[in-house]
Amino acid sequence: MSVKEIVVLPGDGIGPEVTKEALNILETVCKRHGHQLKTKSYAFGGASIDQFGRPLTQETIDACKDASAVLLGAVGGEQWNNEPKDKRPEAALLGIRKELDLYANLRPIKTYDSLIHASPLKPEIVSGVDIMIVRELTGGIYFGRPRLIEKTETGERGVDTKVYTTEEIERVTHTAFETAAKRNRRVTSVDKSNVLDASRLWRQVVIESASQWPEIELNHMLVDNCAMQLVRDPSQFDVILTGNMFGDILSDEASMITGSIGMLPSASIGKEYAMYEPVHGSAPDIAGQNKANPLATIASVALMCRHSLDMPDAAQEIEEAIETTLQDGFRTGDIASGDPDEYLVSTTEMGSAVLKHLNPDLQ
Ligand code: NAD
Ligand code: IPM
Ligand code: MN
Repeated sequence: MSVKEIVVLPGDGIGPEVTKEALNILETVCKRHGHQLKTKSYAFGGASIDQFGRPLTQETIDACKDASAVLLGAVGGEQWNNEPKDKRPEAALLGIRKELDLYANLRPIKTYDSLIHASPLKPEIVSGVDIMIVRELTGGIYFGRPRLIEKTETGERGVDTKVYTTEEIERVTHTAFETAAKRNRRVTSVDKSNVLDASRLWRQVVIESASQWPEIELNHMLVDNCAMQLVRDPSQFDVILTGNMFGDILSDEASMITGSIGMLPSASIGKEYAMYEPVHGSAPDIAGQNKANPLATIASVALMCRHSLDMPDAAQEIEEAIETTLQDGFRTGDIASGDPDEYLVSTTEMGSAVLKHLNPDLQ
């Protein structure tokens, strides 16, 4: 038996609702596989602003560094939107990613057969899609300096700077190629090298690094074309390697191939630490109503079991339980298609439905 120590950062909005369901699942699979689960929650984002006056405390950072893995819900909300940038909930997320040096964000986009009709795209377009977006997470325009708003003679000027270094590009390229080696051995690197210098360096470094993986096919695509190709023919992609902001935008777009942003899990990985986070945000429009889809966070726990907790069997069991639950017809509002065989369920009901497939005592 081993002890798995998890730090939970529920955050804001639907964050606490979805992490609660995911933790029930984690507790069950740990028990089932003879491990002891210890979890500790910390206020994060807006909740931390309300409690401590800051979105991220040193105590939280230290706890994350001591844990086997971190589970994040989501941050953000209208009430904090007028705070200065370092005091916004989002600063906690950017801060913890940087503190833990989580430079690669893995976002799998995989369609479930039973959800084919939940997508606004045609069934023949979305059927069988299996993409892994590898998004660079600690560089690019999110972190480049200068970054400011300043007065000018005629008004104001807002500045953000996109910066990528050779080292930053090399390490995330390494992650993408190692990921592709275990999949279909194709990497599409997405950039805007027809306009941006940081993108020209990106493409050059990716090409140079790729020589270490001669068995993997590399191609390049401009980001505007990629956005179009994702809805035209998403099956052409295996691994998409891209920078921080392009990866952010393309993954929300790609989520609709699966039917909903509420389905997409992610793993944010560095050399020493890892954090697991659904791709969606705090969804203020449905927060507190027990309506959120918890499957993205439950699937993030499956990724945690595989990548950080040395529990690959548990990861597979969770993924199979999600699939069976969907086959049984359970649907939160975001993935409901109105079919009479579906059951419209709440966040907690969806969590319980998945749990039943993992804990025979509940059946
Ligand atoms: P969002 O992802 O929170 O919501 C977009 C839409 O998707 C909403 O209609 C919402 O109801 C729906 N949605 C999202 N997750 C869902 C789920 N699990 N189940 C069902 N429906 C779901 O994006 P937004 O509205 O642009 O942002 C809201 C806040 O969240 C902002 O403050 C933003 O900064 C923050 N945000 C945080 C994260 C994060 O913490 N990782 C990610 C994205 C956005
Ligand atoms: C995400 C979110 C974050 C990002 C925001 C909330 C800082 O959109 O995790 O996708 O842009 O990285
Ligand atoms: Mn995003």
